[in-house]
Amino acid sequence: MHESLKDEVTRAWSDAWDHGDFAAFERLVAPNYRRESTGSGRTSSFAEFEQEIREVRAAFPDLATRIEQLIVEADSLAIFWTSEGTFTEPLGTVPPTGKRVVTRGSNFSTLLDGRIAHERVTWDSSELLTHLGLPSLHSAFEEADEDYADETVPAPREMLKAFNKQFVSGVTVVTTIDDEGQPRGLAVSAYTSVSLDPPLVIVCVQKTSSSYPALFRSTNLGINILSSEQRDTLSVFASKSPDKFATVAWHAAPAGSPLIDGSSASIEVEIKERFQALTHTIFVGRVHHAETTEAAPILYKAGAFYDGRGLSAL
Ligand SMILES: Cc1cc2nc3c(=O)[nH]c(=O)nc-3n(C[C@H](O)[C@H](O)[C@H](O)COP(=O)(O)O)c2cc1C
Repeated sequence: MHESLKDEVTRAWSDAWDHGDFAAFERLVAPNYRRESTGSGRTSSFAEFEQEIREVRAAFPDLATRIEQLIVEADSLAIFWTSEGTFTEPLGTVPPTGKRVVTRGSNFSTLLDGRIAHERVTWDSSELLTHLGLPSLHSAFEEADEDYADETVPAPREMLKAFNKQFVSGVTVVTTIDDEGQPRGLAVSAYTSVSLDPPLVIVCVQKTSSSYPALFRSTNLGINILSSEQRDTLSVFASKSPDKFATVAWHAAPAGSPLIDGSSASIEVEIKERFQALTHTIFVGRVHHAETTEAAPILYKAGAFYDGRGLSAL
């Protein structure tokens, strides 16, 4: 049954997005189908969705969509997709750039009697905007660096590096479970508590990290503040080791995120936003679970680590 649904979805997807034929898709959705965009929070009907596809196809006549992964489980369906096309005609008020565009995202659907009743769509719009050739932080950044070609003036990058050297932080390990059910994680010092009410935190993760795709697709993350006794654990999670959890004991938080045993403190958050900051994604998470201990945290400053036990108060 799952296999035939997978075939149906693959066909409907290709017919609609690549050929503008919606018949197969219409058969696939439940009568009260609703499509929710996690980015904008907008909800649309099937007719509005069809119209959206028509507009995208008009702007990108050679649009080709690839389903990277399709998972059917009980009453839910997950699709990870990549679309490519040339921006040839206007898209709304945006003039065409003639550029080749690649964008990717994921859809999570709830099934009702084997039909798609509700769909949540998450996609990286900034990646699309960059490809579209629209003004972005990226070009502003490159221009700013050119302005500092004069070697007698330190480049902003160097100024920031020098500034960061004076900042003391802890080190966290940000974790999730990947599509194969394996725990994944990396060392992250870019953690900040944003607000207590609501209880929000952020972590910044480089898009080139091998853990990044799994983190991006997740609905929850684990964030572990490493203790002074976890110097070895830190090295493991700052590495590119394919199985970082092979030598690290952990347990699952209520929503499944890996929490590392022996950490100073751990939380599990639900991802609320995935802000695109060029090379990094800023994940905003709402805290749902916390485990704290008296174990002193490891400290990080200017590329070196320090024992957080026995610090002297000012
Ligand atoms: C002290 C320390 C802090 C780090 N902070 C971050 C960070 O805030 N964000 C990030 O993306 N990577 C950070 N890294 C780098 C990653 O941990 C490192 O690139 C890791 O190898 C990525 O692993 P992966 O590619 O297997 O995901 C940090 C590394 C160290 C040692």
